[in-house]
Amino acid sequence: MSLDGRTAKVEKINEITSEETPRVTTSLMELNRVLGGGVVPGSMVLIGGDPGIGKSTLLLQVSGQLAQKGRVLYVTGEESATQVKLRADRLGVGHDEFYLYPETDMTAIKKQIDELQPDFVVIDSVQTMQEPDVTSAIGSVSQIREVTADLLQIAKTNNISVFIVGHVTKDGAIAGPKILEHMVDTVLYFEGDMHHNYRILRAVKNRFGATNELGIFEMRDGGLREVANPSEIFLEERLDGATGSAVVIALEGSRPILVELQALVTPTVFGNAQRTAAGLDRNRVSLLMAVLEKRANLLLQNQDAYLKAAGGVKLDEPAIDLAVAVALASSYHDKETRPSDAFIGELGLTGEVRSVSQIEERLKEAKKLGFKRVIAPQNNLSGIEIPDKLQVIGVVTLAQALKVAFE
Ligand code: TYD
Ligand code: MG
Repeated sequence: MSLDGRTAKVEKINEITSEETPRVTTSLMELNRVLGGGVVPGSMVLIGGDPGIGKSTLLLQVSGQLAQKGRVLYVTGEESATQVKLRADRLGVGHDEFYLYPETDMTAIKKQIDELQPDFVVIDSVQTMQEPDVTSAIGSVSQIREVTADLLQIAKTNNISVFIVGHVTKDGAIAGPKILEHMVDTVLYFEGDMHHNYRILRAVKNRFGATNELGIFEMRDGGLREVANPSEIFLEERLDGATGSAVVIALEGSRPILVELQALVTPTVFGNAQRTAAGLDRNRVSLLMAVLEKRANLLLQNQDAYLKAAGGVKLDEPAIDLAVAVALASSYHDKETRPSDAFIGELGLTGEVRSVSQIEERLKEAKKLGFKRVIAPQNNLSGIEIPDKLQVIGVVTLAQALKVAFE
């Protein structure tokens, strides 16, 4: 069978008409952008994210809007219809073409889809759905694969857009959305810090658009609101004029993400100097402090150092070295960095700033989030495309980078 459900045939590529993909737009511009311009009929979109991050909230709001353009069937396997209704009322979501269906059995769900003929189906979540023919437990790899394959078939044959929710699981007890990425058309991740209100929606894979798009939302009492000027959110958390802070453009998988690194350097009062790191590798921090001591003349051996990646993220790539060093130097000298500066670069033992991967994506992200200057490895900068109005300063050594950061 072909992808659109009809019998496949061989065609000359020159004779295939390449029409523009049709799109259904939602009134959430951030979502439309991440999708590549809107929802593609017959496409399958996976929305992954930590439990409690707001996936159901997002899809409930989106469903409410899509119901104005077609029939929506929202299948909930996690909450009762009453629970969802209560939330929908709070969000001001409701429409005649919006159907709720609390069910986990795929046979029943398929039957409903046949009867109702919806244009959009939401499956919340794929981990709660069950194929009666598959003997393994609900949420197991084979279950969620079969469920997804089934839904894919339904999407393609009936030209229904299907959204599936997949919880990201850290302990590996239940299969996560990763194993479904190759099956679906579009993979979006919804992420953010539970202790803060902002949420980022990223396209990790998109057969109908670019993958470096991101949408930023704020979780409010009345649901998710789009954030028009995202840089504000990222900068507002930073204390004006605070020392010991530097922003890094890190990569999470293949995705660039801007994170504030904080350092606190204080004289050791008793015994050996302490080095504590949250979200960063402690040994790496010790090494970077040794490099700062030897190559930038900072007397750090009798100083305690506390390092923290803001927002609780874990960073382990070498490209964050320069930002860690700058944050340490900033605290040590009691001099602030500019809030609109971001740093990238790996540090070598001789104090050289080494090139990093995916520099263009990182610069694009910095630009998108409103940063004005990026201090980056000189070696990275030949022949690359630099975003408009973003100043990129190439540096060869750590000493040079510190000079730029604090002049
Ligand atoms: P939810 O969409 O249920 O998360 P997921 O489906 O990804 O597990 O989001 C739950 C959280 O969102 C919950 O902690 C409460 C918060 N929330 C708000 O802050 N405002 C709102 O209007 C709603 C509906 C939820
Ligand atoms: Mg949910």
